Amino acid sequence: KKILVMNGPNLNMLGIREKGIYGVKTLNEINSFIAEQTKNMEVELEFFQSNHEGVLIDKIHDAYGDKDGIVLNAGAYTHYSYAIRDAISSVSIPCVEVHLSDIHVREAFRHISVISDVCVAQICGKGEQGYVDAIALLTEERK
Ligand code: DQA
Repeated sequence: KKILVMNGPNLNMLGIREKGIYGVKTLNEINSFIAEQTKNMEVELEFFQSNHEGVLIDKIHDAYGDKDGIVLNAGAYTHYSYAIRDAISSVSIPCVEVHLSDIHVREAFRHISVISDVCVAQICGKGEQGYVDAIALLTEERK
């Protein structure tokens, strides 16, 4: 299966940003970890990061007809981007929402995800392992 692993705004700052919450690994290190942990799964991964809502939306559209699944950490867009939500439902590709931190025990504004009901699952609070679990889940999904 071809899976797009996408990260949204400020996730390029991992390793620098709020290490107590997000850990010390950089996004490149996390992506290497994901590739290593999934090497025995039948998946072809593409990694992508952008700080821009429209660029993320374009990438979701480009996945149409190409990818079998999307793993998405939309960062703060999770909490208010109806445009990203609509992009996910437009392409009808199974999407798993991932967050490094447990958004449900943080500030109230993070408790709400406007994308969760168009995603097949939400995985949060498991750090980088969450991305691996999301990929495993997508390989089990029957389309
Ligand atoms: C995050 C949680 C979001 O609330 C935050 O805006 C992020 C990262 C996470 O991975 O825990 O940028 O999605």
